[in-house]
Amino acid sequence: MPTQRPRIYMHEVATRDGFQNESQFIETEDKIRVINALSDCGFAKIEVTSFTSPKAIPALRDAEMVMHQITRHPDVEYTVLVPNVRGAERALSCGIDEANLVMSMSETHNRANLRMTREQSFAQLEQVVAAIAGSRVATNISLSTAFGCPMEGDVSQDGVMRWLERFAALGVMRATLCDTTGMAYPSQVRAMATRARELFPEITLTMHFHNTRAMAQANTLAAISAGIDRFDASLGGIGGCPYAPGASGNACTEDVVHMLELEGFDTHVDLNKLLAVSCQLPGLIGHDVPSQLLKAGARNRLHPAPDYVKEIGKPV
Ligand code: COA
Ligand code: ZN
Repeated sequence: MPTQRPRIYMHEVATRDGFQNESQFIETEDKIRVINALSDCGFAKIEVTSFTSPKAIPALRDAEMVMHQITRHPDVEYTVLVPNVRGAERALSCGIDEANLVMSMSETHNRANLRMTREQSFAQLEQVVAAIAGSRVATNISLSTAFGCPMEGDVSQDGVMRWLERFAALGVMRATLCDTTGMAYPSQVRAMATRARELFPEITLTMHFHNTRAMAQANTLAAISAGIDRFDASLGGIGGCPYAPGASGNACTEDVVHMLELEGFDTHVDLNKLLAVSCQLPGLIGHDVPSQLLKAGARNRLHPAPDYVKEIGKPV
């Protein structure tokens, strides 16, 4: 009997983490077209957009229209980023499956990104959790800069655990540890994931890596070795936080999926369909994307050998 391959759940974040960072506005109908195509690729979750202030993130000012007009796939959870109660009310009116709350582990980055202290953020998010409680909508907390802050440097693992504990006490049982600016490295990831799983076995954990320093793939394998089975990744490797100096692309979905499938994991993601969407991105956003796979193709893509190869070794 064939052995079952271990399942890895992939969450696609390009239309939120990626598009939020684009200076050129991507038309609403194009966003919808991309999301609909992604819905057909096999993702467990898609982060569609964010219900933030349109002044802070003008690129996603069409969140309601996008959320209302996409075609939902029954096997996909549709999540959106929510920074405050106003955002939660807007998101709930669009029938989301999950609200992805966000605050930073670094005080400085929280102030830069959300214009609040961490305590003010927590107080706001407490209200958001209360506003969502009782609905069928799930709540996830994304803890940004969990592996380091570009303005403060190292972030304490104990601190991250304390925030996880505070959110768990509110009943938030889904959490994402975000490496917002690509400062995480494999041994750190393994230690953080192991500790979080030991302390909070009831919390469903996701990892969110950026490839700023080319460590996202290594960090993904390190997280899996510590028992993590859910990952955010971004089509084409686009993405980044507009409020984090030096931030750059997320872990690239096609690169991650390609590696994980070769390593014997079952991501459920159809790589060919994914590449068909990814190759449209440069045209849509007006610039090249970091995806390696888009340049090189999958490792089983064969190229014709040059003619002289056949002549070698023949008697002259
Ligand atoms: N949706 C729509 N509008 C919102 C809003 C929301 N969720 N939250 C605030 N606003 C509006 C207010 O109505 C106000 O509008 P006005 O100037 O026309 O009166 C304006 O935004 C400022 O509101 P205020 O409460 O003072 O918020 P702020 O300026 O301190 O911004 C955040 C706080 C968190 C809402 C804002 O910084 C934000 O949305 N940041 C996004 C962060 C982000 O997504 N980063 C990248 C991902 S990690
Ligand atoms: Zn991110």
